[in-house]
Amino acid sequence: MAHPDDQGLRKGLTSYGDTAFSLFLRKAFIKGAGYTDDALDRPVVGICNTASSYNPCHGNAPQLVEAVKRGVMLAGGLPMEFPTISLHESFARPTSMYLRNLMSIDTEEMIRAQPMDSVVLIGGCDKTVPAQLMGAASANVPAIQLVTGSMLTGAHRGERVGACTDCRRYWARFRGGEIAEEEVGAVNNQLVASVGTCSVMGTASTMACIAEALGMTVAGGASPPAVTADRIRVAEQTGARAVGLAQEQLTVDKILTPDAFENALRVLLAIGGSTNGIVHLAAIAGRLGWDIDLEALDRMGRETPVLVDLKPSGAHYMEDFHKAGGMATLLRELKPLLKLDALTVSGRTLG
Ligand code: FES
Repeated sequence: MAHPDDQGLRKGLTSYGDTAFSLFLRKAFIKGAGYTDDALDRPVVGICNTASSYNPCHGNAPQLVEAVKRGVMLAGGLPMEFPTISLHESFARPTSMYLRNLMSIDTEEMIRAQPMDSVVLIGGCDKTVPAQLMGAASANVPAIQLVTGSMLTGAHRGERVGACTDCRRYWARFRGGEIAEEEVGAVNNQLVASVGTCSVMGTASTMACIAEALGMTVAGGASPPAVTADRIRVAEQTGARAVGLAQEQLTVDKILTPDAFENALRVLLAIGGSTNGIVHLAAIAGRLGWDIDLEALDRMGRETPVLVDLKPSGAHYMEDFHKAGGMATLLRELKPLLKLDALTVSGRTLG
């Protein structure tokens, strides 16, 4: 596959005086990893890997990376994995919010600095998806979001439990003297029953649903739990689609339009999502020069039904939302209220 000068490995050459020599050097170095000229002539798909031992919400990232690579190669591209900062809510002092913008800068600059025709953003924990969307929006390359997916629920004495609505509930019972130290220790083993993001409609699940509503994931990308075959399949589809995005040069600004943000706000209201979603949407929109109209959000709130009954405000968990059809079911119900002409990373409209 022949490339124009500004694509594939030829993109953004480090300056060593003359262009041909700069490319010659770049290829010499990457060939140290055993690549052939054929591989290096393919569309390059960057894979932003946020795996970290400090981030169990991203504990399935190695399997996701493998599946994304499979998808990229099945579609004829060259996958190139690279690391960025990873943020977990319980492992970021003084607070993860303090580091969200640093992660967005890291993401933006590494997308810009390294040659890639499109990028797969693997995020999940609260601040990571907004940081990646902010960074990709500023870099304005073709980009697609892949979330790690929610954790499974655990069980304590016949009751389902999951982080982190139930964390506070059981801790309050312990502090109130209702349950003993031994029992609260047993609950501690059950609250996070697998890798993946919090199992309630907290910020991570909210941002996953918002990413799909914005058109930044493959259809059905928001809800599969982290450890399911559905999640791995979404990863393979994401990799394959990233090659299409590269070939079509479908940049982020064509997806993240005012209509896309309006759809995201509708979904935020319909899922009873985290209020942090508004803060993050404002930051993502700001990268593209758009404002989030809070008056309009207030109006929309009066006409948008709450369709999802998940903790912390309701009764159920993300895996139940997935089994009930996930975002496809939700978007179908919301159809009269959505901007159906908004373009998605599929290359087709949300409608
Ligand atoms: Fe990562 Fe809740 S701590 S999603």
